[in-house]
Amino acid sequence: MKIFTVVICSVMLIAAFALAENVQNNGESMMTINGGSRGEVPFPHEKHQQVLGDCNHCHNIFPQEAGAIEKLNADGTLSSKQVMNQCKGCHKTLKDAGKTTGPTKCGDCHIRKD
Ligand code: HEC
Ligand code: HEC
Ligand code: HEC
Repeated sequence: MKIFTVVICSVMLIAAFALAENVQNNGESMMTINGGSRGEVPFPHEKHQQVLGDCNHCHNIFPQEAGAIEKLNADGTLSSKQVMNQCKGCHKTLKDAGKTTGPTKCGDCHIRKD
């Protein structure tokens, strides 16, 4: 009886850890940016914060608020693809310099809708 309880508890503990790790990898650290007709853009925000250090590589054109890009796109403060061109521009500059960088092709940023 005692052994049985220990086994059940261990299994539950392992399941709980597996679940927590899954949330860490797929949930919390990945943002999703609305990419319009071309499909949404998964964006690792934390990774950029760590690698780039300076927040103003991006937040020079939109504030540090959820939904800021869509709001500024809607009222015309940001022009179409302005944020996208900032993302792509940095990735391309680093690529040309032979440094570790992010995607520069449409399909490597956007996930096409079905
Ligand atoms: C490579 C680009 C980039 C860099 C660098 C960056 N951010 Fe962001 N940040 C974004 C994007 C994109 C969003 C989403 C905006 C939206 O929802 O419209 C965002 C949203 C946010 C938000 C609101 C959403 C949330 O997570 O609560 C905060 C706060 C934020 N950033 C803080 C920071 C800080 C602090 C730094 C610097 C340490 C930083 N960001 C660096 C691109 C960046
Ligand atoms: C580095 C990542 C990245 C790459 C590469 C990229 N995009 Fe984007 N794209 C984004 C982001 C982020 C947005 C949303 C922010 C914005 O509109 O500026 C976006 C927005 C868009 C939009 C919506 C614009 C609007 O105003 O409705 C279209 C359409 C689009 N992209 C098409 C493309 C095409 C076509 C390519 C390839 C030639 C491409 N994108 C390459 C990240 C990327
Ligand atoms: C100022 C430079 C800069 C800007 C702006 C920038 N990135 Fe990046 N991005 C990087 C660098 C550097 C890496 C490589 C990070 C690494 O793997 O060490 C990267 C990596 C990535 C990756 C791949 C991450 C991985 O785990 O392989 C994606 C996706 C990405 N960026 C999307 C975006 C999007 C979307 C935006 C705009 C909202 C953006 N980036 C803006 C510099 C930038």
